[in-house]
Amino acid sequence: KVGVSIYKFDDNFMTLYREEIANYFKSLNDGNTYDVTIQDGKGDQAEQTNQIDNFIQQGYDVLIINLVQSTSAATVIDKCATAGVPCIFINREPEKADMDLYDGKDYAGKYTYVGADARQSGKMQGELVADLADKGDLNKDGTLQYVMVVGDPENVDAKYRTEFSISQYGEKSGLKVEKLDEQRGDWDQAKGQEIVANALVKFGDKIEVVFCNNDGMALGAAQAINAAGRTVGKDIYLVGVDALEEAKQLIKDGKMTGTVLNDHIGQSHTAVDAAVKAVNGDKLEKYYWVDYVKVSPDNVAEFLKK
Ligand code: BGC
Repeated sequence: KVGVSIYKFDDNFMTLYREEIANYFKSLNDGNTYDVTIQDGKGDQAEQTNQIDNFIQQGYDVLIINLVQSTSAATVIDKCATAGVPCIFINREPEKADMDLYDGKDYAGKYTYVGADARQSGKMQGELVADLADKGDLNKDGTLQYVMVVGDPENVDAKYRTEFSISQYGEKSGLKVEKLDEQRGDWDQAKGQEIVANALVKFGDKIEVVFCNNDGMALGAAQAINAAGRTVGKDIYLVGVDALEEAKQLIKDGKMTGTVLNDHIGQSHTAVDAAVKAVNGDKLEKYYWVDYVKVSPDNVAEFLKK
């Protein structure tokens, strides 16, 4: 019995991720039968904690948890440790101190984090812009004027992508940067659209690049850019992260500059493999990392569904 709780179902990326968890469990042909229950945390930590308590009470063999609040990791780890139930954290990385909590104790090796290093995705976003012929500096003033659309800070991906996109851009381009605006869009398309629409009114042609912490918000940004009569690749640039199918299509059509593949297939399979290992009694590593991949007009065809 496998209990899965996703921070909220209404999230583009985590929807692909959870569907692949279910598919991959079904495809396993290892002699075990997996009874997989996937629940919606509804963006509410109390609700999710309740789901976890129920899984434990009902004797589930392993949990796969996409925390609502990464700061709740220690509580969840303690509950699972007390019950002796292995726990696989996905997508929202707990603090290192929490991952180290059971070092040297029995429960170490029974919980793990499966994810991708968000610093890498941020760096790749910076490179996608720095590698453009004009380095994104459309007005040639030696400074990149940009807008940053930030994800929900409960996921450390938001922090790292915001920081590392800009630091890597500076390093690779040798140009200066000027932040015109930075707003929280909580990974959400509608919020991304609203933020970028407002920024376009406020800063107009000054904006050279819109960085979005994920593609959901970048899809919203693309709508706002369109509505404002601006043209990606000509008078503005736009980058995201995840490589959602719609974003790849926009890149192919020249309506988005680039994205970074957040490999939900690799991550979900790694998480399921870890869960299977744990139920078989094997010791888990503390972390399992899956690489990001840069997606630009040059290679987007390789990533589009055939
Ligand atoms: C993804 C976002 C997603 C978030 C959920 C991030 O890694 O890039 O699209 O909304 O995880 O926590």
